[in-house]
Amino acid sequence: MRFTIGQIKEMREKGKIIPMLTAYDYATAKMIDESGVPLILVGDSLGMVVLGYESTIPVTLEEMLHHTKAVVRGTKRALVVGDMPFMTYHASIGEALHNAARFIQEAGAQAVKLEGGEAMAEVVHRVVQCGIPVMGHIGLTPQSIHQLSGFKVQGKTPDAAIRLLKDARALADAGVFSIVLEAIPTALARVITQKVNVPTIGIGAGPYCDGQVQVISDILGLFTDFVPKHAKQYARLADMIKKAVADYVDEVQNGSFPTEKQSHSIDESVLADLQRE
Ligand code: KIV
Repeated sequence: MRFTIGQIKEMREKGKIIPMLTAYDYATAKMIDESGVPLILVGDSLGMVVLGYESTIPVTLEEMLHHTKAVVRGTKRALVVGDMPFMTYHASIGEALHNAARFIQEAGAQAVKLEGGEAMAEVVHRVVQCGIPVMGHIGLTPQSIHQLSGFKVQGKTPDAAIRLLKDARALADAGVFSIVLEAIPTALARVITQKVNVPTIGIGAGPYCDGQVQVISDILGLFTDFVPKHAKQYARLADMIKKAVADYVDEVQNGSFPTEKQSHSIDESVLADLQRE
């Protein structure tokens, strides 16, 4: 049985902090799932950490669906959230509903995430009305980096802080089951968490949220173009992979790989026949 949105909300009520991680492929999702993580986000960070784009803006719906399917195949317990990419929920409510439905029906996700606050409340409400759980996302919303003038901490001025609280309330009223708070001051995240009645999941928003989300490639030290300030590396897989690849290249070139152990034998009589040919 997978985690449900009811169980995620219950975790907040019981004061149990909610861990969430991103995943983009079958094998990694399987490991995260087997580690007991209740929420997996197939984030559009896919574009940067897996596909090599400079931002999340070029990520397409087809790319997101493709990777969401792989993550769903790799998981049994986690609730999988598919991230709706740039401009797939803005043009009309009909398009937003149609695209959200594709994550659930085609890709097998249990929920979708979309960026934006009060301005997205109507879309959220309609998607939720169709029976699709929605996770909100406010603060630094990477799909709006041009509007935000870059990857910057949000909510630092009194007006901006009040705006974000209003956004969070509007999303909660519209029916989201949780809200990602990205790159906002710790004290603001704490107030929002106290004042809204759905779980907040922070990234770069300090320790007082109901949950925390990280990009898997950041915490594993797999993505090395840059390390975000909010990330902690629990492993340095990029270094380990480079060392393993270098060892493989050495062994292939010096003839010590493959050995008999990695080879297949053939019957002596077949070999003898072969030699006579
Ligand atoms: O795309 C993503 O990975 C995200 C998380 C950082 C919340 O939106």
